[in-house]
Amino acid sequence: MKMEKKNLDWANLGFGYVKTDKRFVANYKDGAWDDGVITDDDKVVLNECAGVLQYAQTCFEGLKAYTTEDGHIVMFRPDLNAQRMHDSCERLEMPPFPVDKFVQAVTDTVKANAAWVPPFGSGATLYIRPYMFGSNPVIGVKPADEYQFRILTTPVGPYFKGGAKPLTIKVSDFDRAAPHGTGHIKAGLNYAMSLHAIVTAHKEGYAENMYLDPATRTKVEETGGANFLFVTKDGTVVTPKSNSILPSITRRSLVYVAKEILGLKVEEREVTLEEVKDFAECGLCGTAAVISPVGKIVDHGKEICMPSGMEKMGPTIQKLYDTLTGIQMGKLEAPKGWIYTV
Ligand code: PLP
Ligand code: COI
Repeated sequence: MKMEKKNLDWANLGFGYVKTDKRFVANYKDGAWDDGVITDDDKVVLNECAGVLQYAQTCFEGLKAYTTEDGHIVMFRPDLNAQRMHDSCERLEMPPFPVDKFVQAVTDTVKANAAWVPPFGSGATLYIRPYMFGSNPVIGVKPADEYQFRILTTPVGPYFKGGAKPLTIKVSDFDRAAPHGTGHIKAGLNYAMSLHAIVTAHKEGYAENMYLDPATRTKVEETGGANFLFVTKDGTVVTPKSNSILPSITRRSLVYVAKEILGLKVEEREVTLEEVKDFAECGLCGTAAVISPVGKIVDHGKEICMPSGMEKMGPTIQKLYDTLTGIQMGKLEAPKGWIYTV
């Protein structure tokens, strides 16, 4: 769908909240979801004892809408976000919002905010944030009986300042997730857990944390908001496999792109911190991060410098980035079912 765009300085947007015109709201009560509405009202009014406020019963998703070269608006694999939110809800004893209705609600919300979807080539995108929370009073530790599901949208630029410049990150002394915990779902509580670690990393001058596996602290997990990709010196793409990391849709898509489109070898396996020094390239992948290159990883004062350096992305990460963003922006043909036109 086409619409006159808002007059924003798209190229200089950071990753922040800008209030857009419309949002979606649905409520769960007496064991059922209502149909939901698109509304102008950006305020949430809750009882002081709402489940989300007491025991953090909330989960969320993140995906993006893009304007293609010919002016259409598209979304990237929203069905996978719908399914992942379904899984998050089940783990948190929340009532899943039906997958087909989720995709429809996201489509409707983006359509209602078409003027806010950044123009093709601007470097910005429309970030879509579906989220759900327990809304009725809860004081004993138990799931809420009532929930609200909302979808907000906000135009965003790069997640990391400096765009495509390689990042310096640190190995964290904190754990993000527990063994058999909630690291594999998109629960708000995982992000609350990571706030002290990210503030600490930023104070020390690092862009992000590399979290290690909580049981042995020897294996690479992920960062606070993205999965890792490594490239070996002979061009194999390696990405950590773990039950306590978020199953990134970007990472799953890149594994397919690497294997099926670029003809690269891919290994999804445990990656030890010890072997990181032997890799040629490193990147962080996610909806917000897209693929952000990492140039240096600091492990308690010991620097691990990627041969790809601090100036630009390594060649394999660059190829993956160009192919993925080409597909997302409609410049390259997408695998079947990846692109939803709004
Ligand atoms: N890992 C974490 C902890 C995240 O918050 C995200 C963002 O959603 C990702 C990985 C990347 O996942 P996706 O590619 O589905 O956005
Ligand atoms: C996303 O990439 O959508 C996320 O949710 C990551 C978040 C840290 C912004």
